[in-house]
Amino acid sequence: MAVAPAFDDQQPVPNHVAIIMDGNGRWARARGLPRIAGHKQGAEAVRSTVRSCKDIGISYLTIYAFSSENWKRPASEVDDLMGLLRLYIRREIASLGREGVRIRFIGNRSRLDSDINRLIVEAEENTKDNTGLNFTVAINYGGRQEILDAVRAFADDVRAGSHAPEDISEPLLESYLQSQELPDPDLIIRTSGEQRISNFLLWQSAYTEFVFTSILWPDFKHEHLEQAVQEYQRRERRYGGSGD
Ligand code: FPP
Repeated sequence: MAVAPAFDDQQPVPNHVAIIMDGNGRWARARGLPRIAGHKQGAEAVRSTVRSCKDIGISYLTIYAFSSENWKRPASEVDDLMGLLRLYIRREIASLGREGVRIRFIGNRSRLDSDINRLIVEAEENTKDNTGLNFTVAINYGGRQEILDAVRAFADDVRAGSHAPEDISEPLLESYLQSQELPDPDLIIRTSGEQRISNFLLWQSAYTEFVFTSILWPDFKHEHLEQAVQEYQRRERRYGGSGD
């Protein structure tokens, strides 16, 4: 017999869920393991969350895998994280592609190793016609940097004569963002009890609902995603209006 979901399946579920995956280090420390063990288990949680999104009917999933601030970590941890991403993209992406998942990457690619860049381009190219879950991985991503890059690109177009300064508008600026093909997130989940945005999707989260959970990312399971969806459904979204 199928178990009833924690959320109301008669009500809409969020179209776009974005996740700040936090707590890998604490998960490892609690077990006396090196930090990389937490990141590895975190990669498993990513794998299962992609499947959960498909089950629940969420159309877009975006995860914060490496922020532009994460370079400040010890070189050995950065290497471990990059190694894990490399492995994940190589292994997982092929099977996700077969399951109809469309994969995209956001973030500044210039500082990533060339082989990772090649894998990224290949994954995007190989899955571009897929119509299932839209899965976006943010690597070397920073929200302020993304907005700055968009403003610079617009300024270049003004200088080149293809836009006038007064053309700038919200939709026009959005067309310069890396996330231009993604709808704004309806729900952002942050794990491990921290309650910060940490430079994630700053422009896009203007009207996003936030759910914070004390679960550490490596322990995040289908039931936790269902609980977050249930919490989202309890909220009344007004987009600045009165709700009448
Ligand atoms: C935060 O935990 C998590 C990260 C910095 C990176 C997230 C990366 C993964 C889940 C693994 C790689 C991803 C993929 C897609 C394979 P933390 O180290 O800040 O934890 P702490 O706050 O407990 O120290």
